[in-house]
Amino acid sequence: MAGISKFRIGVLGSGTGSNFAAIADACLAGRIPAEVALVVSDVEAAGMLEKARERNIPATYLSPGEFRAKLSPEAERTYVKVLKEAGVELVALAGFMRILQGTFLNAFEGRIVNIHPSLLPSFPGLDAWKQALVHGVRVTGCSVHFVDAGMDSGSIIGQQTVPVLDNDTPETLRVRIQAAEHELYPKCLAALARGEVVVQGRRVFFRASFA
Ligand code: GAR
Repeated sequence: MAGISKFRIGVLGSGTGSNFAAIADACLAGRIPAEVALVVSDVEAAGMLEKARERNIPATYLSPGEFRAKLSPEAERTYVKVLKEAGVELVALAGFMRILQGTFLNAFEGRIVNIHPSLLPSFPGLDAWKQALVHGVRVTGCSVHFVDAGMDSGSIIGQQTVPVLDNDTPETLRVRIQAAEHELYPKCLAALARGEVVVQGRRVFFRASFA
């Protein structure tokens, strides 16, 4: 309805943006009672920025600074400023391949979430689907979790399982996990936007049923 402002999500990513697209399309379809207010990437050529512009969603590249695996302190301040100016209430990381530190974590405390392509705490870090194949697990999946100062280590909000098939390659498994991500992430964000998520220590509960 005109005049009623929606819950505002900011999406950060470094890659192709398939999860961003799933989130944005779920918002547009009303499955998440929110809007993507801003998309930010640390990679100038990220497909995610293009996907955002196709949807008329504000999208910007912001320099990450001089480090490879994290934002510089100055870059963190800029990211926070730009997200706050856009009125972002929840930050959703979607393939953002840098660790966030104090300035950012404090600015959005308890309001940063991430999607990871494994059943955490198994296989944190890079190429989780390859880790699953190397380890020989029969079931893997994806996890949505709150972000803390560690690597894929915050409280788990939701998980979805994916079978590992005998003939899987890293690529076929990656694709199957991503299809599960595109279902799980919008469901978790919808619950967060509705205020249904309750955190008790490391455990996360849902006020309404998690369908
Ligand atoms: C997703 O599969 C996400 O789980 C992964 O990056 C991919 C981004 O794809 N993230 C991590 O591995 C974080 N540790 P997308 O750009 O198509 O959404």
